[in-house]
Amino acid sequence: MPDITRPPGARHSPSILVTGAAGNLGREVVDRLQTQGARVRSLLHHQAGPRPGAEPVIGDLTDPSAVRAALVGIDAVFLIWPLLDSAPAHDLVAELAAAAPRVVYLSSTAIDDEAAHQSDPIVQVHADMEALLHDAGLRPRTLRSDTLASNARGWSAQLRAGDVVSGPDVARTAVVDERDVADAAVAVLLAHQDQLDDEPSVLTGPAVLSRADQVALIGAALRRRLRFRALPADLARSRMLADGRPERLVEALIAASVCRPDSNRTTDHVERLTGRPAGTFAKWAIDHAAEFS
Ligand SMILES: NC(=O)c1ccc[n+]([C@@H]2O[C@H](COP(=O)([O-])OP(=O)(O)OC[C@H]3O[C@@H](n4cnc5c(N)ncnc54)[C@H](OP(=O)(O)O)[C@@H]3O)[C@@H](O)[C@H]2O)c1
Repeated sequence: MPDITRPPGARHSPSILVTGAAGNLGREVVDRLQTQGARVRSLLHHQAGPRPGAEPVIGDLTDPSAVRAALVGIDAVFLIWPLLDSAPAHDLVAELAAAAPRVVYLSSTAIDDEAAHQSDPIVQVHADMEALLHDAGLRPRTLRSDTLASNARGWSAQLRAGDVVSGPDVARTAVVDERDVADAAVAVLLAHQDQLDDEPSVLTGPAVLSRADQVALIGAALRRRLRFRALPADLARSRMLADGRPERLVEALIAASVCRPDSNRTTDHVERLTGRPAGTFAKWAIDHAAEFS
């Protein structure tokens, strides 16, 4: 993988569209792009508070006219596809192919390139999206992210109420700080095209962690003894449905919990793209401790 941490020549100031821009990862990307002097347009699903310097566009990723309008004058797109189905992405991909910006797609480390079918619907969507973008001739630059540390925010209500997080367990994996993924994304978005290769970057944290490990590390940051209680699939399903989560999302999360295999893979791709090693979950927990107390 080429070193893109020191771009040659004068800094170009591209116009970049970020989708999912109000989400955990998207907002980190927007902030960094603005700091680096890029012109940023944020595609927001719903009206959000004003963000100095970022041009907001309200629209649905599945609405071709909204996507077409958002792409006017755009050099590059940081594409987050948060849906549980790739079928509605055909129109979006057609709009991208017509506008022909550079595309950086945020995918998943859980993709098995040798498998005919992926382990669960969430991973299948990412594999399908990679194929759609590739088949449309977009030559996307793909960042495959491991489990984002920011998923732990979903535990904040339980941890404000007590010392136990209950939920479906998932495979151990090298949880990655979303701020590292954002730094890597910005490095790629601002790099010269000829500094990049076509192989996906595989962005992981430095250590393989279970959910119990993550809860314990949040406890260490809070100086509390916290523990994770794994729920059987049926109980986890009924609790998530009772919490008001959409049925399709609940089924996808249960399938991921039951079917996704452990991953022992860690890489140095965050460091190769950003010039510094990936941060630990312990550091993430310290930096976000206030959100859990
Ligand atoms: N979480 C992980 O562990 C992980 C791992 C690998 C890859 N990824 C990828 O990373 C993405 C971002 O993760 P995240 O944690 O930042 O997600 P997030 O916080 O849920 O953010 C997703 C954003 O997408 C917006 N959105 C949802 N449906 C939309 C639609 N139809 N049109 C336009 N915008 C829409 C949401 O807006 P509203 O909330 O207003 O609907 C939200 O702001 C995931 O969607 C996934 O594709 C995640």
